[in-house]
Amino acid sequence: MAKIGVVGSISMDFVVSADRPVKMGETIYGQDFKMNFGGKGANQAVAAAKLGGQVMMIGAVGSDQMGQSLIDNLESYGIDCSLVKKVANQGSGAAVISLIDGNNSIIYVPGANQALETQDILALKSVFSIFDIFLVQNETPEATVNQLIHLASLTKVPIIYNPAPACKFTLDLLAKVNYITPNETEFVSIFGTQNYEDVLIHYPNKILVTLGHQGVLYHDGHQLVQVPAYPVAEVVDTTGAGDTFNGALAVTLSEGRNLHTAIQFANLAASLSIQKFGAQDGIPSLAELKASQHYSAID
Ligand code: RIB
Repeated sequence: MAKIGVVGSISMDFVVSADRPVKMGETIYGQDFKMNFGGKGANQAVAAAKLGGQVMMIGAVGSDQMGQSLIDNLESYGIDCSLVKKVANQGSGAAVISLIDGNNSIIYVPGANQALETQDILALKSVFSIFDIFLVQNETPEATVNQLIHLASLTKVPIIYNPAPACKFTLDLLAKVNYITPNETEFVSIFGTQNYEDVLIHYPNKILVTLGHQGVLYHDGHQLVQVPAYPVAEVVDTTGAGDTFNGALAVTLSEGRNLHTAIQFANLAASLSIQKFGAQDGIPSLAELKASQHYSAID
């Protein structure tokens, strides 16, 4: 079984469903409120575990009531949390999410996620090579993310960098990662207004632009390739779709499948995830994915 290391955020999502976005200074009635387990790092770890990976989470939770339940939740998926630290006098990460017609907007408060430091990554050095692949995002400090990417490139352990949420980016990081998975907004924050082809041609099989219902775009060294998304009957909740994609991609790539197949597999997982409520509850299991009518068409 492929061993996947996920370095990233572990948070509680506070999700409000409403008919329309609220304007500044206005109060409106919402339809529903739920607390869900979330955090981009944790969601990606859960996706990788549900889809058949052996996962270790490296992250931080607070010393508040939520901290232990965030860990218990990850462990319930079989994820090794021995390197998740509990930070004294600090609240756990939280995200306030509004869900309108299945689409989300998020305010993220890092809390203890901010306490994941470069030393926590350096402490991994002796065990680094036991991993088949690493996954990292941008909800932990920039220096921590950079340290992980640096170590992965030194030790030649493949790494997928999901640059979400969009933030400051230096192009030398690109040379060190094996795959980077920006969405449209994140692509613009990294490359400005350059068109996709002009950028992707210089990074064959490395930059995978996730375009929602338009699928995923990358350059295979010969041509631009668009891997289509799968049809979705009803979009219930898009929260965590990108995380599902990244977790699924990590599993398939670490099993040695080719990039095109891995993207198809990850697209299918993401399309199933948005048909259910909740960042993690929506993530399909491997059995659910295999039961999809579209599974047999994956190369
Ligand atoms: O990608 C979705 C996640 O990002 C949510 O679960 C929330 O925690 C946010 O930060």
